[in-house]
Amino acid sequence: MADNTARNLSLEDMDRQHFMHPSTSLHDHVKGTPRIIESAKGITITDSTGRTFIDGFGGLYCVNIGYGRTEIAEAIYEQAKKLAYYHVYASHSNEPAIRLADRVIRLAPPNMARVYFGLSGSDANETNVKLAWYYNNLRGQPKRTKIISRWRGYHGSTVLAGSLTGLPVFHNYFNLPVGPVLHVATPHYYYGAEPGMSELDYSKKLAADLEATILKEGPETVAAFIGEPIMGTGGIIVPPEGYWGEIQKVLKKYDILLIVDEVICGFGRLGEMFGCNVYDIEPDLMTVAKGLTSAYQPLSGAIVSDKICAVIQEKSAEIGAMGHGYTYSGHPCAAAAGLANLDILEKEGMVGNAKKLGAYMNAELKKNFADHPLVGEVRGLGLLAGIEFVADKKTKQRFEPKHKIGIRVSGECLAEGLIARAMPNADLLAFSPPLCITKSEVDEIIARTKRAIDKAAGAFRKEGIWQG
Ligand SMILES: Cc1ncc(COP(=O)(O)O)c(C=O)c1O
Repeated sequence: MADNTARNLSLEDMDRQHFMHPSTSLHDHVKGTPRIIESAKGITITDSTGRTFIDGFGGLYCVNIGYGRTEIAEAIYEQAKKLAYYHVYASHSNEPAIRLADRVIRLAPPNMARVYFGLSGSDANETNVKLAWYYNNLRGQPKRTKIISRWRGYHGSTVLAGSLTGLPVFHNYFNLPVGPVLHVATPHYYYGAEPGMSELDYSKKLAADLEATILKEGPETVAAFIGEPIMGTGGIIVPPEGYWGEIQKVLKKYDILLIVDEVICGFGRLGEMFGCNVYDIEPDLMTVAKGLTSAYQPLSGAIVSDKICAVIQEKSAEIGAMGHGYTYSGHPCAAAAGLANLDILEKEGMVGNAKKLGAYMNAELKKNFADHPLVGEVRGLGLLAGIEFVADKKTKQRFEPKHKIGIRVSGECLAEGLIARAMPNADLLAFSPPLCITKSEVDEIIARTKRAIDKAAGAFRKEGIWQG
């Protein structure tokens, strides 16, 4: 502190000079002013200038129980005083991690058996892919290496997770994707279905296309399929009716593992504990993060089914310990935060609140914006929703990316004191508020969004980039 004062640098200057931020243009950053967040409570955050914003995105879809819950701060503090750290390698363990593993497995689908703890959604997806490879090698199917992901899926930004991600902005200039990763079609009915095709027929077509890809590659070379129950960062894409049922039939037929990425959907976002409950999905491997601690501590989990655990357990008698681990796996302070978070989530009925107010939020978004001439589609489920903007409502023609329509609408929301996020692959405004939200807070989000969209639409018309 004294040193910084001597250099006479403001926090903003230090940030501009020495802090490399994710998903940020360094060129713009050095010219701009960072927004320094100082405090938060419920669904509202406050910056260092004293401005408050409704956080309609729950941080990065992660602050499920809302901000400022001192119970979690106390749980972390108490744990840190007693045991701030010890590793969990070679059968070492700690009480909060044990209790959290037990609790997560009791909440997860019935065939899930064990949790491998990591620190981020990206690393948990990497663990799950490694486990799919490990399992296939151990069961004598070493040719099964390919992982099928989907265009517009988001699975993180480390080397392999970034390769699974099906968004070019996360590949460009990074030499990604790498590895045996294939991408298949995005299940977006609005753009992908032929005219007159029902949602169910579209799902059947996507499953038939997946089967054709598997046959072309050789089923004996495919290890796993990975997908989010509802796609998040790729554009809040709700799967068409019957999609997960049809996809699972194909995967089962060819003995291909299913990795369900529940990083956003897990822990109540869709009004059920997991997306798997909403869509009747039986995962072989599940990825969780964000809502596991509501981001009060970094913690993720690769949840592993009994089928996979049985093979690993049997074969480890021969091959010994699994050569995989992170220093901070099963961190006691993060696990203590996870337990306190699940206490709040369950005791305060927040999953039920997400169902009730999620239905309300989605209905209000549709009621207020579906007929707006700038809006192509309003979609979502639970407390996850998106509004997609189009240049021509009839033809569904997109705007040219250079107009940055989504980013500009999101900017107008910010001017209204609302954080609603523009997404990287479409002109989209996305919502994912904390699950503690109230009805009047939903109403306030809708009112601010309405003013922002109308203002942006007026500007686009005036500038001649939109004729609506
Ligand atoms: C579905 C999904 N999977 C994985 C990730 C990656 O998580 P992390 O940013 O913690 O690495 C994210 C992050 O937004 C996500 O939305």
